[in-house]
Amino acid sequence: MKDLKQLLEQNRAWAERIKASDPEFFRTLAKQQSPKFLWIGCSDSRVPSTQLVGMAPGEMFVHRNVANVVVHTDFNCLSVIQYAVDGLDVDHIIVCGHHGCGGVKAAMDNVQFGLIDNWLRHVQDVMHVHKDELAQIRDESERVDRLCELNVIEQVVNVSRTTIVQNAWERGQELVVHGWIYNLQDGLLRDLGITVDSAESLAPAYRRALPGLRRTLTGSLVQ
Ligand code: CO
Repeated sequence: MKDLKQLLEQNRAWAERIKASDPEFFRTLAKQQSPKFLWIGCSDSRVPSTQLVGMAPGEMFVHRNVANVVVHTDFNCLSVIQYAVDGLDVDHIIVCGHHGCGGVKAAMDNVQFGLIDNWLRHVQDVMHVHKDELAQIRDESERVDRLCELNVIEQVVNVSRTTIVQNAWERGQELVVHGWIYNLQDGLLRDLGITVDSAESLAPAYRRALPGLRRTLTGSLVQ
């Protein structure tokens, strides 16, 4: 209970600090939120979305799960995307993975942890698509880090192919999907070079991000 007491004390100190610099901050924010960004990231405690981009409450809508996976049947994630796009009219969706991701490593190692193994099957699907590139990386931690990056790129594709995002583009809404990776070693974010701002730009953006992979977006390998 001591730990929880400390959390509540820290919360009071945090709220006091904000109120000291802006007495109206909470009252204004309580009325509405208008974030311009949706962050889809990993649940890992070392990757605190708003904190690492220096954002205040109200500036970023957030969804986090193990290994930042976007699955077309996950109504939790889809609901977040739908409300962010249709309700909040965000301008950007950022899928952010991180190097050394435990979920990605577990998927690669194919070890059993329980229920979560089924969730991580999605990361294994990514691994199978990119098995040739991954097989060329000898160092194990480098191979995990590359799968972390490839997983982000594939999740950007999944976000872009949701009916929610497709319909937003169809009606002319400005919406850009990005893929980023966070380095736990230096605290820095890096853009993975897949930026999608329309249905038509998805396939070229995917090819640019993965020049070595000759794969169509329907999943089949092409000549
Ligand atoms: Co992770």
